[in-house]
Amino acid sequence: MRVAVVGAGYVGLVTAACLAELGHDVTAVEQDRRKLQLLEARTCPIHEELLPGLMEKHWGKTLYFTASLQDAMQQAQVVFICVATPASHNGSTDLSCLDAVVREISKLLQHKVLLVEKSTVPVRTCDAIRQTLISGGAHPEQFAVACNPEFLREGTAVVDFLVPDRIVIGTDDEFSREILRDLYSPLTSGQYYKHPESVAGGGARRPQLIDTSVRSAELIKHAANAFLAMKIAFINGVANLAEAYRADIDDVCHGLGADRRIGPHFLRAGLGFGGACLPKDVRAFAAMAQQSDYSFPLLAATTKMNQRQRLLFARKVQKALGSVRGRQIACLGVAFKAGTDDVRNSPAIDIIKQLVSRGARISAFDPAASQKASQELAGLGVSFEVDPYQAMDGADALVILTEWPEFGSLDLARVRGLLQRPLIVDGRNMYSPETMRKAGFSYWSCGREPVLSQPVTARRSAGDPPTLLSMIPSLESVSVTQRTGGP
Ligand code: UDX
Repeated sequence: MRVAVVGAGYVGLVTAACLAELGHDVTAVEQDRRKLQLLEARTCPIHEELLPGLMEKHWGKTLYFTASLQDAMQQAQVVFICVATPASHNGSTDLSCLDAVVREISKLLQHKVLLVEKSTVPVRTCDAIRQTLISGGAHPEQFAVACNPEFLREGTAVVDFLVPDRIVIGTDDEFSREILRDLYSPLTSGQYYKHPESVAGGGARRPQLIDTSVRSAELIKHAANAFLAMKIAFINGVANLAEAYRADIDDVCHGLGADRRIGPHFLRAGLGFGGACLPKDVRAFAAMAQQSDYSFPLLAATTKMNQRQRLLFARKVQKALGSVRGRQIACLGVAFKAGTDDVRNSPAIDIIKQLVSRGARISAFDPAASQKASQELAGLGVSFEVDPYQAMDGADALVILTEWPEFGSLDLARVRGLLQRPLIVDGRNMYSPETMRKAGFSYWSCGREPVLSQPVTARRSAGDPPTLLSMIPSLESVSVTQRTGGP
């Protein structure tokens, strides 16, 4: 099938390369000259596992790039719209790029085309697209509009596209439904997975095809992201309670996730969610609810808890060190998660800013995101080192902010030798407390009791008779440091 993809950003580029991998003839349109030059030179402009390989495989055969929407649309049966939909000042979605593209398309329609909205947009955006096309002069017989939301995670986007749990196609007519069914049939029939060179390596479960109306598909996308975000905010709340009550979040998650109604995924406690999507999408969903006069307080609470998690972690670093003023802190990781160079809305960036504002000096390392982070942190005196050990040389503490796998297998004896004192504050629970105890570190993590190199002292005065209630700490008055005495 001939496909045009408008916007070769993150979603557009992955969509284009993966549709080419499924045997379609794809032309991606990119207006940004610099990005287009890279694409025309066969260079992948983003850090994304498997994407350079797919681009190399299909470039110039079934995958093309152009600046001209008109050229891309010439024989296209389907046009995927993958332009940016950033947040506007009040948290709602800024649809101006989308609007501009749709207006342009309305002038270019020559045969019947299916326009597929892939960006995350408010419910009823596809209705608005139809109206914009008509007011731009297009005839209703010349187009159909569908919604096919993406569920791509940075770092695993190619696998998420080609080996998804489900494919949601939101259509309101048979023409659209048939095209989208056909387009994805290599996946839904299982044919693609039989191919020995498929990214699934010749074996995967066929994805479920979820066939809904356009509006339901638009709502599925928002609900999915908001639910994931809520799950993370929730588990972080539980982790904070686990710390206060000296329970262990790993055990709690195990017990929770084993219930199939809850499931084990997205229950990793830590620094909360970041990135270009979840934070923005939760706010956009809340704005959408507000516009329909429905109050959905869970969404605002999710955002608030998520922001607070960063602050609580910066305070934890402060508690672990006594004070961060004048201290040198080695920060491992600046990307919002492992496997990406993306620092947009990264908890690590916020936490580093907070530590600097409290007087700390930061030496940082990230395997992929240092360059982008150095722009975000310009003027704050943060030094970026070429490996983790250089970052921690002479530092007062080591702080882990991104879950890059290599940060979970550090040479601990070497780390001890390099740090001024054996103190690690881990925002991603990369080590077991037991490992750290044996290695002789003070170790603070999330939702688990800290390991202290000094003995724990009891706070309760000898005269207090222990009642059941007195043994349950008040959340307001008892902090981990108060109970343990600190390192
Ligand atoms: C997300 C959605 O997963 C994807 O479906 C959507 O299309 C785009 O947004 P992405 O932003 O790439 O993808 O990252 P994801 O892997 O979902 O992680 C988001 C954030 O949550 C990261 O900061 C990550 O570190 C954090 N996270 C994730 C947790 O803190 N705990 C978890 O258990 C999972």
